[in-house]
Amino acid sequence: MLMDDVESVMFTPEEIQKKVAELGKKISSDYDGKEIIVVGILKGAAVFTTDLIRSISRPVRLDFMIASSYGNGATSSGNVKIKKDLEVDIKGKDVLICEDIIDTGITMSNLLKVLKTREPASLKLCAMLSKPSRRQAEVNIDYCGFEVPDEFLVGYGLDYAENYRNLPCIGILKRSVYEK
Ligand code: IMP
Ligand code: MG
Repeated sequence: MLMDDVESVMFTPEEIQKKVAELGKKISSDYDGKEIIVVGILKGAAVFTTDLIRSISRPVRLDFMIASSYGNGATSSGNVKIKKDLEVDIKGKDVLICEDIIDTGITMSNLLKVLKTREPASLKLCAMLSKPSRRQAEVNIDYCGFEVPDEFLVGYGLDYAENYRNLPCIGILKRSVYEK
């Protein structure tokens, strides 16, 4: 059973859905009269993104990217590898990036720099989770679900070695799973 590997539940499905609804409401009011290009960052944010768009009451266009950082990207902006790029041209558009968790912030700070060069009308970030104590690169999170402590979390899209993404809750993974 997947839940056997979970030390404790941090957020129940109900708590998550309540937060998603709150975020969607805030986003809907901030983007009044606008169309939003929602960009989910695969794979982690797939679950969150598809839930979030259903709580946004504005016209939405959905796209996805796969990005990963390599090396310590604290200094340059060239350390992000885009494995799957956008299909839409974001020039002049209102873009909302949707991410599962901002940890060191390295991937996202680099990705935002790259996307800014494409001249969107606006570029904002919505993250389900943030681990502020781990931050190495500054990232402004416009819409943040929950701030979390430095624990390894799984579920609701978050994985450990590609597992646990389908857990409906967010939980702390037992150390014995990754320390064996
Ligand atoms: P960073 O902010 O560049 O360090 O990278 C963030 C990425 O690391 C996220 O998109 C996740 O894929 C992954 N990550 C960070 N913390 C966790 C966690 O607690 N559980 C699962 N994945 C995590
Ligand atoms: Mg990710």
